[in-house]
This record gives sequence, C-alpha cells and structure tokens, in this order.
Amino acid sequence: MAAQQVEFSKGLEGVIAAKSSLSFIDGQKGFLVYRGIPIQVLAEKSTFEETTYFLWHDKLPTREELETFKKQLKAERELPPDVIEVIKSYYPKNAHPMDVLKAAVSQLGMYDPEAMDNSKEANLRKSTKLVAKFPTIVAYFHRVREGKEIVPPDPELDHAANFLYMLFGEKPDDFRARVMDVALILHAEHGMNASTFTTMVIASTLSDIYSAVVGGIGALKGPLHGGANERVIRMLQEIGDESKVEEWVMKALAEKRKIMGFGHRVYKSYDPRAAILKEYALKLSEMVGDMKFIRMGMKIEEIMIRELGQKKGIYPNVDFYSGIVYYHLGIPIDLFTPIFAISRVAGWTAHVMEYLEENRIFRPRQLYVGPMEREYIPMEKRG
Ligand code: COA
Repeated sequence: MAAQQVEFSKGLEGVIAAKSSLSFIDGQKGFLVYRGIPIQVLAEKSTFEETTYFLWHDKLPTREELETFKKQLKAERELPPDVIEVIKSYYPKNAHPMDVLKAAVSQLGMYDPEAMDNSKEANLRKSTKLVAKFPTIVAYFHRVREGKEIVPPDPELDHAANFLYMLFGEKPDDFRARVMDVALILHAEHGMNASTFTTMVIASTLSDIYSAVVGGIGALKGPLHGGANERVIRMLQEIGDESKVEEWVMKALAEKRKIMGFGHRVYKSYDPRAAILKEYALKLSEMVGDMKFIRMGMKIEEIMIRELGQKKGIYPNVDFYSGIVYYHLGIPIDLFTPIFAISRVAGWTAHVMEYLEENRIFRPRQLYVGPMEREYIPMEKRG
C-alpha cells in the first residue's frame, strides 16, 4: 500500500495497532475493564498477584493456582549477586531510579539463559522473574543511595507489603499494604499506551522480553506518560498553598502549559482509576493528619473541570491522585514512576505474550514531506 493512500494520524491517534483481549477502555463513559472485569471490582476484591495471573492466563486462579504463583514470585524476588553489586557500587547515587531500573533489567537479561527463548512457557517464567524483581531493584537502589543496608525480601509478605518493607525496613500496617496493592492493581494494564506499544514493537522483532521491557521503562519515564505522577507533587510543592491554586492554574492555562495529572488520549471523562485513588488519597491524608495536598488537589480538579471539562474533555487521570497517595505513604517523589513500572510490567509482559501468539513485526510507514528531487552540490560550491 502506498503511504499516500493511508490516512496520517499524528501520534497514531485512533489507529488500531493490534487485537487484544487484555483490557477495554470506554473513554467517553470513563469505563475500564481487565479481561471483562471492571477495574472497581478488581480494586475492591483482587490483589496484584491475582490480577497479574488473570492478565497472563485469561482466567482467575483457583486458590491453589494463586498460592503456587505467589510462591513462584517469592522465590524469584532476590537479585543475582552481580546485579546487587552493581547497584551497590556502580550506579551514581543521584541517578534517576527509572534509569537504574532500565540498566538493572538489561543486566538481568544477560544472566538468563532463556532470554532469547520466546516460547510461551519461557516467557511466562521470565515474566514472573521480572514482576518479582522490579520492587527489589527499586528498593535496593533506594536503600543504597540513602547509605542504608539493603533489606532482603520477606517471604512472609505479599508483593505490595514486601515492597514497602524492603523500602522502609519496617512492615507496613494492613491499610498501607492494601493501598499499595490497590495502586498496583490500578496501574497494571491500560491498552495500547506508549510504553506498552514500545514493548510490543520491540518484541515483534522477536527480540527478547527483557529488551522489550527495558524499552517500556524508557517510554514510561517521560512526563507525558508515567513521569506525570512525580510532577504532580512537584507542582503542588511549587504552588505551595491552597489560596494560590486558582491564580497559579489560571496563569498556567493562559500560558498554554499542561497541568500534570490531567487529560488523556482516550479518556474524555473522569478516569475511573483516579476516582478510586482520590478516595485513598483522602483517607491517607486524614490518617497522617496532613490535608494540604489533597485540598489543593481537589481545588485544582475543580478549576480544571470548570475550565476544560466540557470544553476539551480534560479530567484528572491516574497520575493525579496516585502522587498524593504515594506521598502520604512516605515514598520519595522520584520513586513514583518506578512504582508505576513495578505494576505495569504485568501488563507489558501480558501484551508481549499475547502478541507473540500471532506475531507480525510492526513496521508502519511515514508520510514523506521532503523534496523528491534534489541536486547534489559539490563541497566547493556549497555556500
Ligand atoms: N492541561 C492543560 N491542557 C491540556 C492538558 C493538560 N494536562 N492535556 C490536554 N490539554 C489540552 C491541550 O492543550 C490541547 O488543547 P488544544 O486543542 O487547544 O491545543 C487539548 O487539550 C488536547 O491535548 P493533546 O496534548 O493534543 O492531547 P494528547 O492526546 O496528545 O495528550 C496527554 C494526552 C495525556 C499527553 C496530555 O493530556 C498531557 O500532556 N497531560 C499531562 C501529562 C499527564 O498527566 N500524563 C499522564 C497521562 S496518564
């Protein structure tokens, strides 16, 4: 097909890039399901481990299957000694944790003899390793950069609770562990977003799943994607006080600046994940006795919906309230996007495995807008 015959869509808006049975978003209604189950139901009843199993296997696990899967994850949490050594001794302490994640996952690929085996069974084993090890990489690096001893994973704890434990060196209470778990469920999968598409493009060349996931981490880091959550808190810090919100937001809009944590390519109404996280952000703020950011956040939301809700379909997205949730869990701001990755790796790997079942290399075209003929001017005659 000649490139000129196909419609050009900037940013691939509206383009269907693949078939998938992993998730469905109705952006007008603010509706999201993973494999048919509404996100609200999963956030209320499921766990991250169960949701991951569900995404990978297209069935909810039996009690026994879930126990086996949890055991497999626990067995894979620790990192190879060389990877720990590199984290301890070689990465700059001021590196962004997303860059550390990228580098460490790249390194993990080199230790896996199955790296290039793209059978479903091998990819399931590698995906289990990836999901299991992401929190360990993030937590270890954080401990090391703070000059603290690393805290090895605790097999007594589930995925979310263990992450908080490795980060802080203390077991979280049930509420905080559950908040973390829900945040991981909510971020696990979201259709053909930029990072998922990146992983799929890489996997479609029959490269290895580690390379695909490294690409996904790189794509997620950007402020237009997963990087927005940390910028939300930085924005709240910059505004400083609820009384300054109106003026700050109106000025930013007048200057055509994007307000982080708002807007979405697909949602033109309230992101259901943001609604769930807003409730948790409220509860946590009350618990820690610090209502400043949540009040500022709700004020920003009110102004944005007033100014751009009807006009442009701009509402809070998942990153807006997740930032406030993580902040009140005591998590450092630059770990917010890595937490997104800790969760989304479940979706990335699910997409890679699904796509490889009927793989075809991604190879779109470009709309050439340059000249068709041009003279080659000898060097001595160039101006
Ligand atoms: N603040 C202010 N205006 C916004 C906005 C925001 N956060 N998001 C979108 N808009 C406006 C744009 O300025 C544009 O207005 P225009 O038509 O007058 O030019 C219109 O809404 C469409 O935005 P556009 O950037 O073309 O949408 P997109 O689909 O290409 O981008 C995002 C989607 C998510 C990248 C974009 O909304 C954004 O940058 N949001 C902030 C970053 C963020 O929170 N990312 C996390 C996504 S989960």
